[in-house]
Amino acid sequence: MINKILNQDVQKYINANLNTDLHSLLLKKSPFPEVSMQEIVQQIKGKQVAQKKFPFLLKEGIIFPPQLNLEQSSSEKTAHYKSGILKGKKFIDLTSGFGIDAYYLSKNFEEVTLIEQNTDLLEIVENNWKILERKARFINQKLEDFLNQNKETFDVVYLDPARRDQNKNKVFLLEDLSPNILEIQEKLLSISDEVVIKLSPLIDLKYLVSVLKNIFRIDIVALKNDVKEIVVFLSNKNSGEIICNCVNLENGESAFTFTFGEEENAHAEYGEPEKWIYIPNHSILKAGIFNLISERFGLKKLHPNTHLYTSNEKIEEFPGRILEVEIVDNKQVKKKSQFNIISKNYPLKPEEIKKKYGLKDGGESYLIFTQSKKGKIILKSV
Ligand SMILES: C[S@@+](CC[C@H](N)C(=O)[O-])C[C@H]1O[C@@H](n2cnc3c(N)ncnc32)[C@H](O)[C@@H]1O
Repeated sequence: MINKILNQDVQKYINANLNTDLHSLLLKKSPFPEVSMQEIVQQIKGKQVAQKKFPFLLKEGIIFPPQLNLEQSSSEKTAHYKSGILKGKKFIDLTSGFGIDAYYLSKNFEEVTLIEQNTDLLEIVENNWKILERKARFINQKLEDFLNQNKETFDVVYLDPARRDQNKNKVFLLEDLSPNILEIQEKLLSISDEVVIKLSPLIDLKYLVSVLKNIFRIDIVALKNDVKEIVVFLSNKNSGEIICNCVNLENGESAFTFTFGEEENAHAEYGEPEKWIYIPNHSILKAGIFNLISERFGLKKLHPNTHLYTSNEKIEEFPGRILEVEIVDNKQVKKKSQFNIISKNYPLKPEEIKKKYGLKDGGESYLIFTQSKKGKIILKSV
């Protein structure tokens, strides 16, 4: 199939239809007897996705897999972040998929092995890596079979388990992933001192720590404040506390680093809203370090269930949004005025608030509907 798709005329047709409506294209007959319209649309879709998600693949000769494999791939940006953490001699990705992670993560290694059970997908990756001038050993096998036969050791073993069950629903428990990490974790640690696993942002961190042995680091990776991945690092050498990094890529912020023990021992100070209000980034919220944030930055928390913080002095290095605010009452919220509405620990959702007060969405100003220890409050940015 690869050679047929790479035929010059087929490629010309694909490039000429990059902006064509794909539904109407699918209704047409393919102009090429040996390539179906579905295969052509798959390539167009791939190029469209690549523009945003992996622009490094917008090259002549690159082939794209079906949509599910595109969706399951990491983005170039998160893969690039992970590549900065890992180095060594021998790298193995046991769940290659479309190979985006493998391409980036193996940059600082001399010998690279990719395992993938899907034959067609691995063929596509092999073709693409040739175009990208990257060498690897490509093994089309179930990773469990590979692990049973394998006698080698590696500096880093990487896995990004498939997150869909047989009904193609998304799943978030480790035992529902493919492969089942809980079943193979000991085997993995017997062939490497560093095992790195990418997991869904929806996975619960406390659950992870309770079921996975030898975790020494967890990174919560967000891109522009949208949490994309939880990356777990396991090691035999692990002895101390688990280090957790909250990362927000593309916002020019440095990572917020803590240990779980620190949060357990931290105490939040509570207070009513002062001049500045702080809204933590999503990676911080995912980490659940609500007391530590108050303690580290010397900020008061508004309420045990309101994850908003406040101070009179501005703390610039806070990992999140900072707004200068004043308290307003119901009557000061004028009908038809325009605000970005934020609802935190408040009984109404932004949509309901908009309706109730007759507000318009957008503009430069913010209205925060929330609760302090004294009760419900409305804060307006100044
Ligand atoms: C989420 S995708 C990996 C995406 C990849 N990290 C990337 O950035 O392109 C997971 C892949 O693991 C493969 N996989 C799942 N279970 C496997 C198993 N037991 N043996 C080999 N491959 C497996 C799936 O076929 C799928 O292609």
